[in-house]
Amino acid sequence: MSELLTHLYGQQHRLCSTPAGQLTLVLSREREIDLIELEQLCDAVGWSRRPLRRVRRALQNSLLLVGLWRHDPRLPKLVGFARCTGDGIVDATIWDVAVHPLYQGAGLGKQLMAYVLELLQQQQVERVSLFADPGVVAFYEAQGWELEPLQRRCAFWYAP
Ligand SMILES: CC(C)(COP(=O)(O)OP(=O)(O)OC[C@H]1O[C@@H](n2cnc3c(N)ncnc32)[C@H](O)[C@@H]1OP(=O)(O)O)[C@@H](O)C(=O)NCCC(=O)NCCS
Repeated sequence: MSELLTHLYGQQHRLCSTPAGQLTLVLSREREIDLIELEQLCDAVGWSRRPLRRVRRALQNSLLLVGLWRHDPRLPKLVGFARCTGDGIVDATIWDVAVHPLYQGAGLGKQLMAYVLELLQQQQVERVSLFADPGVVAFYEAQGWELEPLQRRCAFWYAP
């Protein structure tokens, strides 16, 4: 099984823990993100659509892309996503954090964020920020993120 997972999701994949334990959910920075699947995920969480060619370029220009996959040996399904932009040394910003509504509330968003931060820390990025929608500020705060202008290492802004 582990060889198959490495083949599908890359060396740095991580298995997620889930309450039911029946599904295999995998975080991966290496498995390629399909634009249509990503669009479907964004639709599912209620985000407005962006032109696919612009999304493609945005992904190409990103520092890090992370997919959360429901494992299937034939066709893994994208059920979560996050990406980062930045210089990869001093600064990174996390964007487009999403977990499909069917999979929310199971600790996957938290594991997705932890995975992203670990990968950024491996690159020794000094400062990470994100822009949180008002309805998810508490989600980030519970994970130790602090509101600007406290000027701590991890920070996020919300522009009203
Ligand atoms: C925000 C989101 C990524 C959270 O994913 P998730 O898998 O449901 O989150 P988790 O199950 O890992 O939740 C972890 C903890 O945060 C809490 N939490 C989850 N969403 C929350 C929210 N919107 N506000 C406050 N707390 C929240 C959970 O209750 C849980 O608490 P616990 O550790 O005490 O049990 C997901 O709800 C989502 O994709 N939302 C739509 C898109 C979105 O708004 N993205 C953020 C853009 S800034």
